Amino acid sequence: MTHQAPDTQPAAVLPAASATTRPRRLSPLDQLLASADNALRTLTPGSTRGQRANPAATTLGDSTPADSHQARHIAGLMRVNHTGEVCAQALYQGQATTAGLPHVRRAMEEAAREEEDHLAWCEERICELGGTPSRLNPLFYAMSFSIGALAGLAGDRWSLGFVTETENQVVRHLDSHLNQVPLEDERTRAILEQMRIDEQQHATTAREAGGAPLPAPARRLMGWVSKVMTFTTYRV
Ligand SMILES: [Fe+2]
Ligand SMILES: [Fe+2]
Repeated sequence: MTHQAPDTQPAAVLPAASATTRPRRLSPLDQLLASADNALRTLTPGSTRGQRANPAATTLGDSTPADSHQARHIAGLMRVNHTGEVCAQALYQGQATTAGLPHVRRAMEEAAREEEDHLAWCEERICELGGTPSRLNPLFYAMSFSIGALAGLAGDRWSLGFVTETENQVVRHLDSHLNQVPLEDERTRAILEQMRIDEQQHATTAREAGGAPLPAPARRLMGWVSKVMTFTTYRV
């Protein structure tokens, strides 16, 4: 039985913003307030609204597993994915804060807006499964914002390369979750499958925008950080 994501239109993340369009200049205080606003909205359950419809809405009925143990496991997986999207918000915001070129900064902010869909969808599914978002989200937001800001300081090529590597790792992570979610749980699978399509597109677009391949030690370090996040937020 194959499962087709109901909405296979990729999010247009990291658009090829033209360097010739005139950027709106934000003062450092504006940027600080915008970052604080994003952090509050990201970390306050129920305050993020996706722009696209939740892919689960096109599935039939409630596909929550009858087995309570399995439902808890899937809620745990979605909590991990939700924290991943919290981190995505923070990473893009951090990168936008220190991006050198205005069109790269705008592209990062646009990417963060489009990741809000994933954040909202994951949160909705966690609630349906009777779970709650991770209590560690503020910690991971702060950590990811700092990492994003450092990536931005390293230069736009490296910052875009960081996006490519992050999204590639997210795609592999989503594959592992799709292998664990039963075919009957169409609502969870619909969300994960659309997210996978989007994240793959984010990686491709960042690479085509000039992202440099990261050295192997940096890729390994990112993988370890991701494992720590996955291990802890599944439980807390
Ligand atoms: Fe995402
Ligand atoms: Fe993404």
